[in-house]
Amino acid sequence: MSSRLRILVVGSGGREHALVWKLAQSPRAEKVYCAPGNAGIAGQAECVDISVFDLPGLADFAAQQKIDLTVAGPEAPLAAGIVDVFRQRGLRIFGPDRSAALLESSKIWCKQMLSKHDVPTGGFVPFDDYEQAVSYAEVQEPPIVVKADGLAAGKGVTVAQSVEEAKTALHDAMVEGMFGEAGRRVMIEEFLCGQEVSVEAISDGRNLYPLPSAQDHKPIFDNDEGPNTGGMGCYSPVPVLTNELFEEAMEAVMRPTVAAMAEEGRPYVGCLYAGLVLTEEGLQVLEFNCRFGDPESQVILPTMKGDLVDLLEAAVEGDLPAPQGGQNGAAVCVVMASGGYPGEYDTGKLIHGLDGLADRDDVVVFHAATKATDEGLVTSGGRVLGVTGLGDSLSGSIDTAYEAVDQISFEGAHCRRDIGRRAAGGQ
Ligand code: GLY
Repeated sequence: MSSRLRILVVGSGGREHALVWKLAQSPRAEKVYCAPGNAGIAGQAECVDISVFDLPGLADFAAQQKIDLTVAGPEAPLAAGIVDVFRQRGLRIFGPDRSAALLESSKIWCKQMLSKHDVPTGGFVPFDDYEQAVSYAEVQEPPIVVKADGLAAGKGVTVAQSVEEAKTALHDAMVEGMFGEAGRRVMIEEFLCGQEVSVEAISDGRNLYPLPSAQDHKPIFDNDEGPNTGGMGCYSPVPVLTNELFEEAMEAVMRPTVAAMAEEGRPYVGCLYAGLVLTEEGLQVLEFNCRFGDPESQVILPTMKGDLVDLLEAAVEGDLPAPQGGQNGAAVCVVMASGGYPGEYDTGKLIHGLDGLADRDDVVVFHAATKATDEGLVTSGGRVLGVTGLGDSLSGSIDTAYEAVDQISFEGAHCRRDIGRRAAGGQ
């Protein structure tokens, strides 16, 4: 066996819990730290109180603790250049540098790059000027998609059902500054009609190691009703993404994008995450993210094949192994959220029922926003837990996930009851 590694994961959500959970299982992991982590992550990693935005502080910690490999979870530190800061100090880190993270941090740059390299995506027009954007919107047929250029914590897109709604979205972003500088530039893009799927792969800058497919459920209520959230649950694999379509996603989107990034002088090392729409005309890129998906990680990492430490280290060294096809069974993750989420919500609610699930090997409860207190474990955010059920089939994993959800309680807790059901019905 190769040497054992001291690993630092940066972040504090469900995705980072899934990363820590998976990395800590590897025989290659000597010790796992997480900055800042959360109460659930503390079960598998030593949490250190350093903000994801304190890039020098994180690099100091990695140097002092002789960390062999850092894994940056969220997009914000990647867009701020955490990889550049670590590399300048000779510290190994998994993730794209700032110039490559532009794939997610500038939606307009991403679309321009995709168009230039003939990667299939919908049409778009960028705007710096509010009046010009309004004039353009006024002659479009709804639905009209208005998207902030920069990072807006998943809230920067409006699918307007009328010209008036599109004008309000433009005003909010460009005039009111609802998303700060991230929304002063916008694009109006073609509405892509079809199911959205998440395709992720680890990239070493040239080669890809595909991960299992997943589908996120963003709206708050069953049957995809109500406002969008950060994700109320997901499942893997995605039956509608057949082997042929998955191969098409790799050949028409993922590999050309990695090649294009290298050609642009921005070699992409990290997890490449494509949000794809299965339109009647074929697969189209909705957007790229420069990191693992959340909550997709909570179903992808438990079912992926291969050792994650080996893979992330190989990616950083530019030497990914040949992909292993398939995945281990199926997984469904149901997000339990605080009362009021995605609007205003209270925190500090005691969480009950987790002890009875701790020894199950068909259930993993990933913590997204929890805190340990003298009174016990309490909620500390909007999306609190990601309850993942594992099994041989999607339908079995759904039953397992909801059976576990029904054992957990906290005041105001709510979740969708239909995660994965449409896909399982179509199996
Ligand atoms: N599941 C959406 C995201 O990770 O951005």
